[in-house]
Amino acid sequence: MKNIVLFGAPGAGKGTQAKLLKDRYNLVHISTGEVFRYNIKKQTELGNLAKTYIDKTQLVPDDVTIKMLINEVERFPNAKGIIFDGFPRTEHQADSLCDFLSSKGDKVDAMIALEVPDPVLIERILIRGKSSGRVNDQSEDRIRIRLENYHENTDILKDYYQKQDKYHGIDGVGTVEEIRKRIQQVYDKL
Ligand code: AP5
Ligand code: MG
Repeated sequence: MKNIVLFGAPGAGKGTQAKLLKDRYNLVHISTGEVFRYNIKKQTELGNLAKTYIDKTQLVPDDVTIKMLINEVERFPNAKGIIFDGFPRTEHQADSLCDFLSSKGDKVDAMIALEVPDPVLIERILIRGKSSGRVNDQSEDRIRIRLENYHENTDILKDYYQKQDKYHGIDGVGTVEEIRKRIQQVYDKL
């Protein structure tokens, strides 16, 4: 069982690459952002709560997000491996993931981080915003706030996994196919 944190800033290509990796290796893909969007659409209690934060371009509080993540993981007791996309995003989330997985005799095997410069991220998200229906994709100001939040709170997790010798940085600029190959080279050696 190989559990991967697929990491990167908003627009780095986590969702795009996670789907390819999932199909290739028969893994479970859990995207916290997608779970939130699903719940917002269904107007569940979790969705309504998450919406209040996401609409303000803020992170959803750790306690809510961690509880939801654990519920998601528990839906797949026979998973061959999990790709965590968009989680963890804070040190507290990373510690909680570690504690939760260890309680099941499991662990995060690697962080694969997609490195993409901010101007490329902004361009990609603005293009996606034309069709995604995601309000936070549609203005450069909102995208910049999300990127600032990422650089302040989330980027530090690279050090967190580096200290455990689990960090693998990947050049996230190029075609989807080129990046897929770079990720697979790392994954195959784990
Ligand atoms: P989330 O859905 O995780 O959004 P995000 O991190 O902002 O990342 P994105 O989904 O925007 O980007 P991505 O890296 O998946 O890139 P994609 O493949 O789509 O989270 C949404 C919100 O939920 C957060 O802002 C937060 O409020 C909340 N939230 C989620 N998780 C949370 C947590 N753990 N704690 C607290 N709050 C949380 O690619 C982007 C675009 O580029 C696409 O259009 C794609 O087609 C295109 N593209 C991809 N690869 C390439 C390429 N190589 N070349 C050109 N274009 C490309
Ligand atoms: Mg995504």
